[in-house]
Amino acid sequence: MVSDIKIYETTDELNSGAAELIAGLISSFIRLNFKCTFVLSGGSTPERLFTLLADNYKTEIDWKKVFLFWGDERYLPVDHPGNNYKMANEHLLSHVNIDPQSIFRINTDTSPEESAKEYEDRIKKFFGNNELPVFDVVLLGLGKDGHVASIFPGTDAVNEKEKWVAAVKADSLNTERITMTLPVINNAKNVIFLISGEDKKEIVEKIFIKKEKDNFPALMVKPQNGSLFYLMDRAAAGDMKTE
Ligand code: 6PG
Repeated sequence: MVSDIKIYETTDELNSGAAELIAGLISSFIRLNFKCTFVLSGGSTPERLFTLLADNYKTEIDWKKVFLFWGDERYLPVDHPGNNYKMANEHLLSHVNIDPQSIFRINTDTSPEESAKEYEDRIKKFFGNNELPVFDVVLLGLGKDGHVASIFPGTDAVNEKEKWVAAVKADSLNTERITMTLPVINNAKNVIFLISGEDKKEIVEKIFIKKEKDNFPALMVKPQNGSLFYLMDRAAAGDMKTE
């Protein structure tokens, strides 16, 4: 595993840098494999990044060859403001020439367990076998408690080794979640953390400066045969320096 930490002085520079990295990776996979599998994160951090990808890479990326998945989804209706698909559709999907058949939205019309099973089955069908999938690019956010996707500290999802997708119910959650699990995330070729804002300063300090060994799920993201990028703005990085 190769890992790299990049700190950008402003949030705009962070998002531009992230868009450039992701666009470069997507285009290289398309050149290599005639397609790219790209797993989106949810929450609010990636909104600006998605807009940049739509505005600045509408034609630079051959979106017809991109296959989009989600790392997690909140168990909310697709038209709910908190739904991750809805946010991505508003900021990215509805602005680029992507094939609707290439968008693997997590269905939240069934129970969380059924949704997780259905999503896992669709991933298996896409990759054409039952071997652990190898996604080309996985984008992750960082929760203030150190969660990634919807792998929250203290939930069964942390130790899930068999399922590729799990339903999650955590006390700290205001809604149930469906999440890709660590075996899938850690099997990716490129994992990118996008970390922005003052509200992430404390968790960044715990993880990267104090190197606290609490069981933060973020610390369990170690793509064994891939690259790991931590991209953060100065607001989140605080006094952190990169070597
Ligand atoms: C979600 C995300 C989650 C998110 C972090 C950070 O569905 O909320 O996938 O893992 O990336 O909670 O969220 P913010 O970007 O809103 O801070």
